[in-house]
Amino acid sequence: MSKGILVTGGAGYIGSHVVRQLGEAGRRVVVLDNLSTGFAEAVLHGDLVVGDTGDHELINRILKEYEVDTVLHFAAHTVVPESVANPLKYYGNNTCNSRNLLACCAKAGVRHFIFSSTAAVYGIPEVQPVTEETPTQPINAYGSSKLMTEWMLRDLSAASDLRHGILRYFNVAGCDPECRIGQSTPGATLLIKVACEAAVGKRDSLSIFGTDYPTPDGTGIRDYIHVEDLASAHLRALEHLENGGDSLTLNCGYGRGFSVREVLDSVERVGKIKLNIREEARRAGDPPALIANGEQVRNQLNWSPRYDDLDTIVRTSLAWEQKLAKRNSSVGPPQ
Ligand code: UD1
Repeated sequence: MSKGILVTGGAGYIGSHVVRQLGEAGRRVVVLDNLSTGFAEAVLHGDLVVGDTGDHELINRILKEYEVDTVLHFAAHTVVPESVANPLKYYGNNTCNSRNLLACCAKAGVRHFIFSSTAAVYGIPEVQPVTEETPTQPINAYGSSKLMTEWMLRDLSAASDLRHGILRYFNVAGCDPECRIGQSTPGATLLIKVACEAAVGKRDSLSIFGTDYPTPDGTGIRDYIHVEDLASAHLRALEHLENGGDSLTLNCGYGRGFSVREVLDSVERVGKIKLNIREEARRAGDPPALIANGEQVRNQLNWSPRYDDLDTIVRTSLAWEQKLAKRNSSVGPPQ
């Protein structure tokens, strides 16, 4: 039997899309997820083990049983304001548990490790677009906890045969175009998810946080990447490492930005609705703009996006939100 691929957090939003694509590529997958924010039904391929990345006995057992050669590590807490209020929760899960996982991988001789990092490692960059050489200066515990894992991984690779891919995600949105999986986490704060919830009536209104930024329309600009394209970058990174390629750190974004108003216009256009929009003060810690220089991911992985279109991203997000709304209305009031 072929060597196994361990996907931690494979029941979560991004991990589940990667697992689905690994399934389509015929790979042998085992998912480890504690289901704190993930959903068992989102795992459309492979085996699901419910457990924690801090449980070294369990990880040792999985690595051995599935003859794991590659680990894709998504399991993490990801809510920025929560990381500011409760930093040790973030260092515990995102940093200490990653160290535990890496120790198990080192012991078992795992050869490839792909890590889900974030543009939050750059903090508030002085220059746009952001290249992989832009200084890392996280401004919250979420970004720091991820950066610390990047460092552990870099140092472990230097000291062993392990090779790694660090993927720094910009703003991820959208869902599987066939709408089988999507972003289901309750209490959403991310713009496209919030706007789609408002579009399907799950919220009465939404807010624009800041209309006085030094941007053309005064609202914040972000580089939104479709989750399917982000998932395919993981498969390309895996191929790169399996073909003997060097460790790499790559920004995952399209390299162009849209303002909050442009995103909301798209939701109104695609959904054929009028949103109830309020204008509010800036949200603490938000950079005016965050745009990737996405050349490296294209060049080094021979990756080309398929969904680089704002309306397509919004269309798939909205379709998923409509599906969730329908599901909730058939089982009781919305959660
Ligand atoms: C956030 C995190 C980032 C993390 C990413 C993915 C911060 C500062 N950044 O990105 O580290 O990697 O999530 O989890 O928290 N906006 C509104 N109204 C809303 C929601 C958002 O106007 O209801 C605006 C924001 O001010 C921002 C843009 O929309 O300008 C995008 O915000 P959001 O979707 O929350 O993502 P980020 O904050 O960019």
